[in-house]
Amino acid sequence: MNKSLFRTKNIDRILADGTDGAHGGNSLKRVLTVKDLTFFGIAAILGAGSFSSLGGAIFSGGPGVIILFVITGIACAFTAFCYSDFASRIPVAGSAYTYAYASFGELFAWIIGWALIMEYSIGNIYVAYSWSDYFTSFLDKMHIHIPAYLCTSYMEAKHAIESHTSNEELLSAWDNAPVFAGIKCILDLPALIINVLITYLVFKGVKESKNFSNLMVILKLGVVLLIILVGGYLVLNNHLTYNWLPKNNEGIASFMPNGFGGVMSAVAGVFFAYIGFDAVSVLAEESKNPQRDLPRGMIYSLVICTVIYILLTLILTGAVHYQKFEGVGDPLAFIFEEQNLNVGWMQLLVSICAVIAMTSVLLVFQMGQPRIWMSMSRDGLLPGVFQKIHPKFKTPSFSTIVTGLVVGVPILFTDKTFVLDFTSIATLFAFVLVCGGVLFLPRTIKQAGKFHLPYINSKFIFPLIILSAIATISVAFNNYFPSLFEFSGNSAAVTYNVSAIIFWVISLSLSIGAFIKNWSLIPLLGLTTCLYLLTGMTAMNWAWFGAWLTIGLIIYFQYGYKKSKLA
Ligand code: ALA
Repeated sequence: MNKSLFRTKNIDRILADGTDGAHGGNSLKRVLTVKDLTFFGIAAILGAGSFSSLGGAIFSGGPGVIILFVITGIACAFTAFCYSDFASRIPVAGSAYTYAYASFGELFAWIIGWALIMEYSIGNIYVAYSWSDYFTSFLDKMHIHIPAYLCTSYMEAKHAIESHTSNEELLSAWDNAPVFAGIKCILDLPALIINVLITYLVFKGVKESKNFSNLMVILKLGVVLLIILVGGYLVLNNHLTYNWLPKNNEGIASFMPNGFGGVMSAVAGVFFAYIGFDAVSVLAEESKNPQRDLPRGMIYSLVICTVIYILLTLILTGAVHYQKFEGVGDPLAFIFEEQNLNVGWMQLLVSICAVIAMTSVLLVFQMGQPRIWMSMSRDGLLPGVFQKIHPKFKTPSFSTIVTGLVVGVPILFTDKTFVLDFTSIATLFAFVLVCGGVLFLPRTIKQAGKFHLPYINSKFIFPLIILSAIATISVAFNNYFPSLFEFSGNSAAVTYNVSAIIFWVISLSLSIGAFIKNWSLIPLLGLTTCLYLLTGMTAMNWAWFGAWLTIGLIIYFQYGYKKSKLA
């Protein structure tokens, strides 16, 4: 039993499953180039994170949240290298799931596939909510008003009432909602409708979706550039750069007004903004030259988006004092409001752009999920119907419809904060396993035309990095390590202490492993940085994630374990 839980799928077999005619000649159409893949990456990355959750992140961390963007960008870059390494070895659909099957074995593969539902489907719920926020504010500017109870999620309104909100939108949704059978009829209708439209588009096929997506990415990049230019000009011209060192509640001016703890508490929002570069890897079977183009597409899109995030954060934190971002769901439009930079036409343009940006994110994620399920179904871990390909449109039709339902139904009973945290923790967890997987796969020989992960021996470098980090932290914040062992205060502080202690113990163990085993430095740094980001998650996030994993394991043992092709 133990051995069969870790049965791995041979890479040659994965390639054969992904490309032979065993599926009745139903393979996907190979139409995507490196430009398309880069565009898909940008389409997936730039969306609700920058347009919506950035406001909350800045409120928590102040301008210092830039540091978190840099740390997260570095973690994602290392992870992208690992994804690229995997994708060049295994150019079939399936993303981290397929990669884990080849390295860690079936149980871990299932766990990753299960966690990726969080990234792709639950992540899309957050994007759909944000899409709805910007769409309704755009309609408002056009003097078309939707009643608040038809564009608010039930749980958001309920939580707001319980916490005695003063937010008029939410109060109006609760007070004016019609009541059926004793239940207040509050739902986010635009979020539901966009989900139906996106599902339809993905069902119709990748070619149509590709053209649509590329067009939206060009528009989105154009407007983001405009925000950076106009905002940057006004910040410098109006001499607002003092906002980069804002005063906190105690009157102390600092780049990190709420300390490093404040910066780290923004981790779910910041990490969410980066999720998406990995979605490129699920398009392997639709890519003309996956071994060469997938890694390039992923890394190009990640680098472009990282630069954009750093610039956007600088502009937002320069334009407005960080505390003004409390509860602001449309920060990029907010900075141009009358009381801030006061550029009316930019406000309108940004809300149109936000709708476009988020539509393209929805599209990419909605395309990714069915392709992962298709791979899991090929392996016998899900019923065969999940790999059914539509004879005319050549898309995974059943999986696409199920994805639409998995995104659509929870829109009725979740809220933004919940889905944001849930998505981020599960995706980080999947990234940890991908980086770990690359560490333990045998190294490949460099081949012309294929991506090759450079091998840098970590024997001395990695222990040196960890020991230098410990020494620097001990000198700069002399109470940091002793304070980790003080288990008093609120549950958030205790959770952080426990996570941080586990992180440092793992890092020291990895240093010993690196010294003995001469591991490759890049995946090792990817693993460590992603583990570090996990220290920012709350106890509640871990509890929900644990419950989700437990359900996944029950399903695996009841179904996948017995039906697996490797059984
Ligand atoms: N990174 C994607 C977004 O920000 C998920 O919308």
